[in-house]
Amino acid sequence: MQRRDFLELTRYAALAVVIPNNWRVRHRPSFADDPFTLGVASGDPTPNGVMLWTRLAPRPLEPGYGMAGARTAVDWEVAEDEGFGRIVQRGRATAAPELGHSLHIDVPGLTPDRWYFYRFASGDAVSPVGRTRTSPAEGTTRPLAFGVAGCQHYEQGLFTAFQHLSREPHDLVIHTGDYIYEYSAIEGRVRRHATDEIQQLEDYRIRYAQYKSDPHLQAAHAACPWVLTWDDHEVDNNYAGDIGENGMESVEQMRARRAMGYQAWWENQPVRLPRVQSWADLQITRTVNWGALARFWVLDTRQYRSDQACGDGNRVVPCGEWSDPARTLLGAAQERWLVDGLGASRSGWQVLAQQVMMGRYDSAVGPDTQVSMDQWSGYPVARDRLLKAIAERAANRTVVLTGDIHSSWVNELQVGFDTPGGPPVAAEFVGTSIASGGDGADESANVERVRAENPHLKWQNNRRGYLSCRVEGDRWETDYRTVPFVSRPDAPVVTASRWRVERGRPGITRI
Ligand SMILES: [Fe+2]
Repeated sequence: MQRRDFLELTRYAALAVVIPNNWRVRHRPSFADDPFTLGVASGDPTPNGVMLWTRLAPRPLEPGYGMAGARTAVDWEVAEDEGFGRIVQRGRATAAPELGHSLHIDVPGLTPDRWYFYRFASGDAVSPVGRTRTSPAEGTTRPLAFGVAGCQHYEQGLFTAFQHLSREPHDLVIHTGDYIYEYSAIEGRVRRHATDEIQQLEDYRIRYAQYKSDPHLQAAHAACPWVLTWDDHEVDNNYAGDIGENGMESVEQMRARRAMGYQAWWENQPVRLPRVQSWADLQITRTVNWGALARFWVLDTRQYRSDQACGDGNRVVPCGEWSDPARTLLGAAQERWLVDGLGASRSGWQVLAQQVMMGRYDSAVGPDTQVSMDQWSGYPVARDRLLKAIAERAANRTVVLTGDIHSSWVNELQVGFDTPGGPPVAAEFVGTSIASGGDGADESANVERVRAENPHLKWQNNRRGYLSCRVEGDRWETDYRTVPFVSRPDAPVVTASRWRVERGRPGITRI
């Protein structure tokens, strides 16, 4: 060995002492504060498995959340009983700083159609116990009960709706997005510049931690598996593809922000997603089957959409490039995946879990038609393409579940809303918000004024709450569960209205 080589080697040896320390896993950590402050969650069930989630955060609202960047071992276990006497799966994983000390465990080897209990442990700390379940085996038609929630603006109201949701006998919860809001947390501040909003990974992480500290949200996650999609506020209000709300950012800036928003979302959700080269391209479209009874299509109407036509607001149409057939809401690949899949699926019910309202809402009195450019109504050719495909492949056994607008709507969907009274081909239930919009009201004067112009709109309401759905064979029922206030605790829950869809029969009936 030459002297120079020897020196070179010693230099690397010296480095080797320093660098691997960053990769050393703390197998016996000791925590001054409970690291399981954000609760536990599960999601994306299959007949033989489910995703488990937690995130270590002893001091959740501080930068670094009290973990000091330490790679930390966490044990997990899944049992048939709440006392963990009959453990069926267990393992050890590492919570890593580059992934926000989150854990995503894809548990294998479970039995179809049964409930399980799970928990995590690290050092002397043990997490709360979560309850989860597998989906029924392929081909079976066991009934399904599930909730639908979304839009939980923390500063605008308490999560009382989650308190009630967590007590419902649901097999699943579908979340339609706006899990966090990116706005400046200072209430009453006029928001004009993106700089008022969170933009950095660490800030998104802290925002999730703030929301996840809520005990009612934690209880709802611990009650059953969730299937989540995102909407716009996980990144930036009304963003479209790589175009931000204010149109001030470059494509590179918007992609960087998207990467951080998407990564933080993934770190905080119990989702099973394929790896991607860049977080900016995280692909969340996927299906979840409930035996042969129902297939959920989890859609993303934000990442691949054309920019809103004529601005993001409500506009009298036609305007600008509004009706350009090249414009898309799902993007070509997702649209083809969905349309081909609807044709190939043998599930009794096709369920679209997505963000923005599909039914047209004309908010202008008189001959003008005024619609929201951010919803499917802003992409009329793409909407008709999809509804035509539904009419051909899964007519009147397709149900669209929607979030986004902080109010409840029941829409019969038809091809071509320009011709009122066309035959319904699908049902849409727009869930309201958990908290966004505050206490709300039962009636809307605007909606009443234009009711005659929107004959496919069966019902509308502006209270906070969630949906509770039951599917059994050919019968689908949706209950609108609402709370009269979220500005103070302990609001009771009521069923504001109930609806039925019968498979193969057009229309939605009020129960
Ligand atoms: Fe929202």
